[in-house]
Amino acid sequence: MKLIDLRSDTVTKPSAGMRKAMYDAEVGDDVYKEDPTVNKLEEYAAELLGKEAALFVPTGVMGNQICLNVLTSPGDEVICERHAHIFQYESGSPARLSGLQLSLVDGNKKGIFTPDQVEPLIRPTSAYYMAQTRLIEIENTHNRAGGTINPIDNIKALSQLARKYNLYIHLDGARIWNAYVETGIKPDEYASHFDSVSCCLSKGLGAPIGSIIAGKKEFIKEAFAVRKAWGGGMRQVGVIASAGLYALKNNIERLKEDHQKAKLLAAGLSEIKNLSIDLDLVETNIVMFSPNGISIEEFQLKCKANGLLLGTGKVGEIRAVTHMDVSVDDIKVATGIIKSVLA
Ligand SMILES: Cc1ncc(COP(=O)(O)O)c(C=O)c1O
Repeated sequence: MKLIDLRSDTVTKPSAGMRKAMYDAEVGDDVYKEDPTVNKLEEYAAELLGKEAALFVPTGVMGNQICLNVLTSPGDEVICERHAHIFQYESGSPARLSGLQLSLVDGNKKGIFTPDQVEPLIRPTSAYYMAQTRLIEIENTHNRAGGTINPIDNIKALSQLARKYNLYIHLDGARIWNAYVETGIKPDEYASHFDSVSCCLSKGLGAPIGSIIAGKKEFIKEAFAVRKAWGGGMRQVGVIASAGLYALKNNIERLKEDHQKAKLLAAGLSEIKNLSIDLDLVETNIVMFSPNGISIEEFQLKCKANGLLLGTGKVGEIRAVTHMDVSVDDIKVATGIIKSVLA
């Protein structure tokens, strides 16, 4: 039986063109900065993000955590949204790796929080007995909220607030490419409001591995040292960096198709009885919904038995993510499977 896999956009497999680029990649030892393909990827990504420099890292988690580590000191506090990836899904790494505590803001249903929610949380620098607020973190698009986009004016306002209080501001832009194709706001415009940015190559862009972090030259120099300290100094990684470069050059604009597939899926699901969905949240390639009258685990198992793999979101929610390895026909079949399981 063919399985339709909507668990995540990370399940995409490298295309023939991408594999060819990997096969052909020129390589060298990246710990000596001698891998020409990695160097090309980092230069290209830095330009795309409008930053002085960039660094190739194996994963989005490592990317976020290196940025937090470089910009803070142990005992500092980071302000982020309650459903942020760095809080929910990064194994407690802000505490484990950098001695940080997180101060959580309740975003709206789209995971968006505003400067007036953040300002009262910023601790006075005179209060030596308090953790010092050092950084604000924003996730765009917001995974756990359902791939929602943070409005650029809100991002600007949060960035201005960070400047006013001498705080750093970090973007978890794992899916910043999805925000760009949907709004037309370029990645460098988004990135210009942040000190550090982390973006994934291995999600909707279809690379098998890899993320990019970007910022000022001095920041990337420190990030390079932290990556090595954490065991992330890699050698002839042009073979995988070439996939990332191919992804950035060929697969950004096509993300629009994934958004269309998500809208198609959401529209189909909204007509199914025993299912709750908020269509307002479907802005990019993630669709959250709740099956009623059945546990999440049982629903997932029944869908799997019928050939459909689904992920989970917030408590009581299913997450379906569209990507380049599912077709419009697959989406129609998936909708039918969900309907039959809930009938
Ligand atoms: C918003 C966000 N940030 C970071 C990550 C981490 O990426 P990785 O799985 O490459 O560590 C993810 C992965 O799903 C994500 O959705």
